[in-house]
Amino acid sequence: MKKLRSFLSFTLLVICALILTSCGKEENKRIIRISHNQAQDHPTNIGLMAFEEFIESKLGDKYDVQIFPNELLGSQVNTVELTQTGAIDFAVASNAILESFDNIYQIFNLPYLFDSPEHYHTVMDNKELIEPIFTSTEKSGFEAVTWLDAGTRNFYTVKKPIKTPADLKGLKIRVQQSASNIRMMDLFGGAATPMGFGEVYTALQQSVIDGAENNELALTSNKHGEVAKFYSYNMHQMVPDILIGNLKFLNSLSSQEREIFNEGFILISKVQRDAWEDSVEKAKIHAEKDMKVQFIYPDVALFKEKVIPLHQEILDATPKLKPIYEQIQKIGKQMKEDK
Ligand code: GCU
Repeated sequence: MKKLRSFLSFTLLVICALILTSCGKEENKRIIRISHNQAQDHPTNIGLMAFEEFIESKLGDKYDVQIFPNELLGSQVNTVELTQTGAIDFAVASNAILESFDNIYQIFNLPYLFDSPEHYHTVMDNKELIEPIFTSTEKSGFEAVTWLDAGTRNFYTVKKPIKTPADLKGLKIRVQQSASNIRMMDLFGGAATPMGFGEVYTALQQSVIDGAENNELALTSNKHGEVAKFYSYNMHQMVPDILIGNLKFLNSLSSQEREIFNEGFILISKVQRDAWEDSVEKAKIHAEKDMKVQFIYPDVALFKEKVIPLHQEILDATPKLKPIYEQIQKIGKQMKEDK
């Protein structure tokens, strides 16, 4: 009840904020609101800005696209709910949190699922495999329209480097709000501390947590490297970000408009991914040189063996994942043979 009340008051607050931001806009345009939790220099924001420009160049007399970065409209969990109800139209959500809407999304939360970034990209670009996953949340009022790169997740800590899984023992490590991520951290031996992304900086600073896990941009774009000085390449996950859209809004588009939007969704993914590698390279240099973050390259196999049992555990609990899992393995095997 308390949770419902706080969600309702949060929703009310956001609606008021949305009304205020709409003031002064041309009245006859439909405002399209997109929320995400990254900074303005992040590839995701760059991709979404390209979408805004594209949609407004094609359908600008009808639509005004507005992007809300930096968790301005709330955390990912909140903004998925706002997208569900139609209070906003789109939100970028980590795949990790989508598993609570349909457990099919557990598949991409599995640690060491992909052999390489190429394997990850090929799978995510495989329409046949992705389509049923992307439409799985229709019952919840939204669907996924494209995916975004979120790199490889690694541990980073404040006080001591993580060189082997034994170093995680007794450490409180922030994870995303997802049951499979909590279980993964249990298997690694650390104490999982789930929280929203926007809370991580302060939690690190105030020693509420000893570390977290994420891609390199968390160090720079989100400034976690100001506090956490050890970043260990144990490479446990490649978890995509997913752009979700309110179903009613998507279904309200005419077929010509939907075609233009679909082109726009492809553009977001392309621009975002084109910017990704370069951003990561720059982040590493900035973190090492200016923030004095130390990069550590541990033996990945030691980490992998700890969490691999999670694959079977999740496949047994959710048998509908099996054919998808097998297909992903098959693609990986084929890619290795073709090399
Ligand atoms: C990455 C990802 C975000 C996610 C964040 C997190 O930055 O791109 O979508 O919210 O990790 O760990 O919560």
